[in-house]
Amino acid sequence: MESFGSVYILSTRMLTLTLRCNGRRHGWLLVAALVLSACMGSVRAEDGYALWMRYVPVAPGVAHEYQRHLGEVIAPDQTATQRAALEELQRGLSGLLGSAPRVSTESAANHVLVLGTPESSRWVAPFRQELETLGGEGYLLRQARVAGHDVVMVAARTDIGVLYGVFHLLRLLQTGASLENLEVRQSPAIKLRVLNHWDNLDGHVERGYAGGSLWDWHTLPDWQDPRYTDYARANASLGINGTVLNNVNANALSLTPTYLAKAAALADVFRPYGIRVYLSARFSAPIEIGGLRTADPLDADVQRWWREKADEIYALIPDFGGFLVKANSEGQPGPQDYGRSHADGANLLGDALAPHGGVMMWRAFVYAHDVPQDRAKQAYSEFAGLDGAFRPNVLLQVKNGPIDFQPREPFHPLFGAMPHTPLMMEFQITKEYLGFATHLVYLGSLYEEALNADTHVNGEGSTVARVVDGSLDGHALTGIAGVANIGNSRTWSGSHFDQANWYAFGRLAWDPRQSARDIAAEWAAMTFSPDSEVVRPVVEMMMASREAAVDYMTPLGLHHVMARGHHYGPGPWVDGGPRADWTSVYYHRADRNGIGFDRTRQGSDAVSQYAPAVAQGFGDVARVPESLLLWFHHVPWDHRLRSGRPLWDELVHHYTRGVRQVQAMQATWDSLQGRLDAPRHRQVAAFLRIQENEAQWWRDASVAYFQSINGRPMPDGEVPPPHPLSYYQALQFPFAPGDGR
Ligand code: GCU
Repeated sequence: MESFGSVYILSTRMLTLTLRCNGRRHGWLLVAALVLSACMGSVRAEDGYALWMRYVPVAPGVAHEYQRHLGEVIAPDQTATQRAALEELQRGLSGLLGSAPRVSTESAANHVLVLGTPESSRWVAPFRQELETLGGEGYLLRQARVAGHDVVMVAARTDIGVLYGVFHLLRLLQTGASLENLEVRQSPAIKLRVLNHWDNLDGHVERGYAGGSLWDWHTLPDWQDPRYTDYARANASLGINGTVLNNVNANALSLTPTYLAKAAALADVFRPYGIRVYLSARFSAPIEIGGLRTADPLDADVQRWWREKADEIYALIPDFGGFLVKANSEGQPGPQDYGRSHADGANLLGDALAPHGGVMMWRAFVYAHDVPQDRAKQAYSEFAGLDGAFRPNVLLQVKNGPIDFQPREPFHPLFGAMPHTPLMMEFQITKEYLGFATHLVYLGSLYEEALNADTHVNGEGSTVARVVDGSLDGHALTGIAGVANIGNSRTWSGSHFDQANWYAFGRLAWDPRQSARDIAAEWAAMTFSPDSEVVRPVVEMMMASREAAVDYMTPLGLHHVMARGHHYGPGPWVDGGPRADWTSVYYHRADRNGIGFDRTRQGSDAVSQYAPAVAQGFGDVARVPESLLLWFHHVPWDHRLRSGRPLWDELVHHYTRGVRQVQAMQATWDSLQGRLDAPRHRQVAAFLRIQENEAQWWRDASVAYFQSINGRPMPDGEVPPPHPLSYYQALQFPFAPGDGR
């Protein structure tokens, strides 16, 4: 990374020394300070840019042990990917072990680290058959005696597999793992592991909280910012192998020759790292940039236009991944504008891409305000009947829950309902509904919960993860997408802890059965310190953080109760406006007697979209998980919960508990002062203060509002909101970040 190892800060003492000096003595003192700095070992300024690839020195004893195994490297360097792997290894080992390894082509010392494929390395060639079983992206790490040498091998069928293996090895070293008897066999469970950037061509990122877009469209294609390479490295370190460059609310200009040349330049940078470029396509592009009078998917000219467009793209980007399309959703154009179905639309683009091996990722996030149906039901109603109607290269991209990336949702009922169609998971990594970049909310827990949810469609164990990885219905084409939280902020993600969400997405995309806790531990060790006195408390904070946010924002199954438009802060009072399903009152339905959305058979009957075993549980007020109670049921305020408390008391209890949890996170973080670098510690501490204030704001505003509806007194021991409801309602945030444009 550009500034790794080059930016240093002086210790406070030296800084004082330097600042005090003046006149002729200035130069000498500065030299003295620098010498002292060199002797003491400088502290690197940590600004988050290095992500989890900081490669800081390991403890001397461990370094010696690693050095013993890894002193000499034998690696090919003929292809761009081979060079990327070797460079990463050199960068990593230089940082971790304090010196660059000796790289040789063939002369072998007693202990060697070998990288390669059967084609590129004679050391790896004997393992050809074994490597076949790991597929095109898998890899093998093994410590073995080979021809009288003690060898650590990073071997794969392809160069990309080797690159992934190098990142795995570096992860082991960063987390202090032993290399004795090393034996790791890995291959990804999901084929397409893709980031979705909601980046507009003007540099604004929809729902982005990490600055502007990483892509500088103005200087592309001529200038390829080194940051693009670091972006690719970070993704490759996780096995992310695709990126959709532009917003799903797409501008047709992305498909014009000018912008395609820019996308091609990015594809060139990403290619050595195994990352394919995809584009969001605007369905009406044939009209807007093609001069046609229609975008009807059954029109021959439209079909020709898309075919030629695909040919044009592939001439520039031979490994172009394909298209992502949001159609007939939130005002976007689509096939229904012409009386055609979503399958007609998806197949039109699928057919254009098929000759080139591209895929069509069609989004299922659709709902229409003129449809008098519970919004949670609409995607299922629209798509379930189209199962089997899509071309083989079409995937349907489904959000994890049926509404919209809420702090907690039940799994989307389409998972398990379309066995003949590959369903991609769409997670949001950017925290549109979870406190933007300033709240510490680790999403690994949310992703894990969604992936582990059991659809029961083929009996117990029919998890969402098994739908997504294709094992439930035998799909080879599988995918998972994460709406990126990456911008041009120095931290990439807008905060240090938000990097963990990018990380967790990537790791779960590779293997959706991993535990969120293990991933958090790995990330914390690499990002902050492998010291267990750091990892343990940081992991505890992370693992409690998502539930804390649910508590202070949307406890007990509440959802979509945030402020209008920008979604910053609470807004349970939001009503009126252009459409009912963009209001909060539509979702919580609170009145004097009770609260919650009745989605049982007596209500909207959304429960019936799930398999019977699931529907029965969700539909029964006595069996539904309390965490989803108000998602599925409208219940009286004095309904007793398992705690013995009436609902109103329980609700307030959750709000308060959420705030307390944030305070507990603050205390934990404070206790880490001195164990971490000061710059990052300071920023996290400041953000936790913001989070505490905002958690309190969420709690107070929500309590004030619901109390105004139910007229109930504050439960015993609970502090009333300090302001009247009107105060919270009057707060305005016209420039809150991330709003759509
Ligand atoms: C949410 C989000 C929008 C986004 C949409 C989508 O509604 O607020 O900004 O466009 O999801 O996923 O398409």
